[in-house]
Amino acid sequence: MDHSKAPVLEALQDFRSRGYVPFTPPGHRQGRGVDPRVLDVLGEEVFRADVLALNGLDDRLMTNGVIEHAQELMADAVNAEQAFFSTCGSSLSVKSAMLSVAGPHEKLIVPRHAHKSVVSGLILSGVRPVWLSPRWDADLHMSHPPGPEEVRALFEAEPEAKGMLLVTPTDYGTCGDIAAIAEVCHSFGKPLIVDEAWGAHLPFHGGLPQWGMDAGADVVVTSVHKSGAAVEQSSVFHQQGDLVDPAVLKAREDLLGTTSPTSLVYATLDGWRRHMVEQGEHLITAALALAERTRAEISTLPGLEVMDFTHRTHSFDPLKMVIDLSGLHISGYQAADWLRAEQRVTVGLSDHRRIVAQFTHADDQRTADVLVEALRALTAAGLPSPKPVDLPSPDELQLEMAMLPRDAFFAEVEQVPAERAAGRVAAEMITPYPPGAPAVLPGEVITDAVLDYVRSGLATGMELPDPADSKLETVRVVARG
Ligand SMILES: Cc1ncc(COP(=O)(O)O)c(C=O)c1O
Repeated sequence: MDHSKAPVLEALQDFRSRGYVPFTPPGHRQGRGVDPRVLDVLGEEVFRADVLALNGLDDRLMTNGVIEHAQELMADAVNAEQAFFSTCGSSLSVKSAMLSVAGPHEKLIVPRHAHKSVVSGLILSGVRPVWLSPRWDADLHMSHPPGPEEVRALFEAEPEAKGMLLVTPTDYGTCGDIAAIAEVCHSFGKPLIVDEAWGAHLPFHGGLPQWGMDAGADVVVTSVHKSGAAVEQSSVFHQQGDLVDPAVLKAREDLLGTTSPTSLVYATLDGWRRHMVEQGEHLITAALALAERTRAEISTLPGLEVMDFTHRTHSFDPLKMVIDLSGLHISGYQAADWLRAEQRVTVGLSDHRRIVAQFTHADDQRTADVLVEALRALTAAGLPSPKPVDLPSPDELQLEMAMLPRDAFFAEVEQVPAERAAGRVAAEMITPYPPGAPAVLPGEVITDAVLDYVRSGLATGMELPDPADSKLETVRVVARG
């Protein structure tokens, strides 16, 4: 295929050059109706690029196949049979993927460290999760993707499971053995969905962990806004093989997606694909070299260690720099806040002992130097040691599931004091964010250990976006009948 083409970008240029006068959304009319104070901040170009697909980028019946062609090019670029663009992040794409494999009350194997968008998918659909333990790294207090043996054992125990979802890479960049897991799934005739939200760059460089489509997964979801160069919310889901019908996948997306996707998402996805096909290998090679140099430099700073997961997990993404702060006796929450306030540096994930700085092809020596100097200043900042987070053991994080997530979420609920919540069935998610894997799910029996964890975390700076009582003095539980 001709990857020098960018059908969405070309259609947008065409729309402008032909001078169409739309009487359709968006009402801002490509910026004409926007308050100049908004334009001062955003610039007019953003609005000029925001055009409807239907009767805008393409005609009323989409006969030019603008989006279709862009999706075909994406599929070709990443070795998929089909690719679908989505404008609501992987949060929507994972739901579409799950619903294309299992329906209400059917079983789906899901690792317990899945992102909250997966849990939302379970709540909305009524799919029954069969929980798969991730590989807990007890001394580091983190989890990695499960291995093929665990998957095989679970399919043997739960033969009616319709398929499985795997999360890889994790937010820490640790990766599972997709090829081996796909083989196990396929030996049972079941499809493998990979939530590869953090892996949009993986198809474009041989030195990175193996990309899900190359490894034989049936559906792979990526967030191009995370590690690629498309705007926020840009996601693609990819399909191959005959275990998941692309028409079903498309219909599930149609159920959840917007009828008014912005061309900003489509155009930047299209441009990213062209850029990566033409220059990805070279750009990512440079990013990898930069990350390696920076990793070595950070590791010379007193009290800091850039974690190396070589012997802990199948593979990991070297562009994710997981910085362990244990030697400084401070938390990741403190470090992230201090770096933002004092150094104007923002990092992604922070937890009780780590921060994660993600490199992409857009970084260069200047940004790497800024990070190193900011971290050097952090090592000298003398931040006080925080109160400890009451970290549970892996066993304590595996709560008993008493009800389906959907049934608990939509049940009669009551708000009980946290001290009296143990033993009750949760009716809400409680999610340390990021990474966004819920510690408590609707339907699970709350324990003191998990409550101590999230409440002590909250006291030291953990972000919990979802409980109804954001201070967690009370917890939303299923009412007693
Ligand atoms: C593993 C995982 N899956 C899915 C998502 C949702 O992706 P998005 O933010 O693109 O909606 C995230 C977001 O952080 C994630 O970490």
